[in-house]
Amino acid sequence: MKLIGCEIKNFRNIAETSASFCDGINVINGDNAQGKTSILEAVYVFARGRSFRTNKESEFINFTAESAKISIEYEDKRRVSNMTAEYDRKDRRKLFKNGVRILKTSEFIGNFRAVLFTPDHLSLIKDAASERRLFLDIAMAQITPSYVSYTKKYNALLSERSALLKNPNAGSAENSVLFETLAEQMAQYAANITRLREKYCAKLSEKVSGYIEEMSGNKENAELKYEVCFTDDIRQVNDTKQIAKLYYRKFLENLDREIYFKTSLYGPQKDDIDIKLNGNSSRKFCSQGQQRSLALALKLAEGDISYEVTGEYPVYLLDDVLGELDGRRSEFFMSHLTDKQIIMTCCDAPEKIKNADKIITVENGKVL
Ligand SMILES: Nc1ncnc2c1ncn2[C@@H]1O[C@H](COP(=O)(O)OP(=O)(O)OP(=O)(O)O)[C@@H](O)[C@H]1O
Ligand SMILES: [Mg+2]
Repeated sequence: MKLIGCEIKNFRNIAETSASFCDGINVINGDNAQGKTSILEAVYVFARGRSFRTNKESEFINFTAESAKISIEYEDKRRVSNMTAEYDRKDRRKLFKNGVRILKTSEFIGNFRAVLFTPDHLSLIKDAASERRLFLDIAMAQITPSYVSYTKKYNALLSERSALLKNPNAGSAENSVLFETLAEQMAQYAANITRLREKYCAKLSEKVSGYIEEMSGNKENAELKYEVCFTDDIRQVNDTKQIAKLYYRKFLENLDREIYFKTSLYGPQKDDIDIKLNGNSSRKFCSQGQQRSLALALKLAEGDISYEVTGEYPVYLLDDVLGELDGRRSEFFMSHLTDKQIIMTCCDAPEKIKNADKIITVENGKVL
């Protein structure tokens, strides 16, 4: 996968600009607050379907404009394509691929594939479980279209259930029928999400452990497991139908407690990835350096799995990340990305850009 170019209009501080990219390492260089991350953000919208900095799309429209328009041209192993996204102040958006309007997010995500790495990801290990679930959601959505539709449908039902749990009459007989119907539908999607996440984590585990062995000179080993919020029951079964049965039971047997707390206590929205380093929980026992190594390994593994599934490497978007890594770790990271396309931001670090294949200078929201 290769990003050929992008065009950006009224996005953050960028009034109107365009950039073209080459194979290898593209460095977006410039002083602080010139628009470097904004360019990466605009490009990444096409991989994730939304920004990595905000959930409110109107926030990235330039303060003085009513709408924003961004486009990319990219090449995959089949053809050159383009994608466009337009946003207005009422959070309405229009998405296009090769000029044809796309209405479903699940058809938008997965066309242009990218791995994003920002300084925030360096704390992926210590962060709350929601960050690791987000990592899974973003990585898996780009390579498994069914995952996008399962999570979308599950989340819609979960919102319905949450509203019902907050209803003062939640415990009425009439609502108990509704809870049963919801449990039945949610259990199917929850089981599918769980199965897909378990499989993905098994692949992650294999790759991450390889990278950690290499980084530590065989001194450390890592192991990852998808952790369902009611692990003991679920370990006994491994087919989707049986997992759905367990979820169905779980969604009904604690209903009184859930009505009391007015929130859903079980489901994939509560799960986590258990990451062990040398047999111990990385979240509790890892040093900062070990956490950083694991975060690097996770990002490299994400790209490798994308390659295995799609037959081509994604584009690597790195926001200021090398500035945050020590020399040994950034060298290790870059040595594993040599034959891939990298688009990275960087300010005032000439030693980091000496291997660049292209330097793109940004000043005051414009590519020079
Ligand atoms: N909606 C918006 N409209 C106009 N300007 C915005 C908007 N949102 C953010 N900005 C501004 O855009 C500028 C560029 O931000 P960006 O994060 O791209 O900078 P950067 O070049 O990555 O800087 P740094 O090196 O500090 O990371 C900042 O001054 C920011 O305040
Ligand atoms: Mg920045």
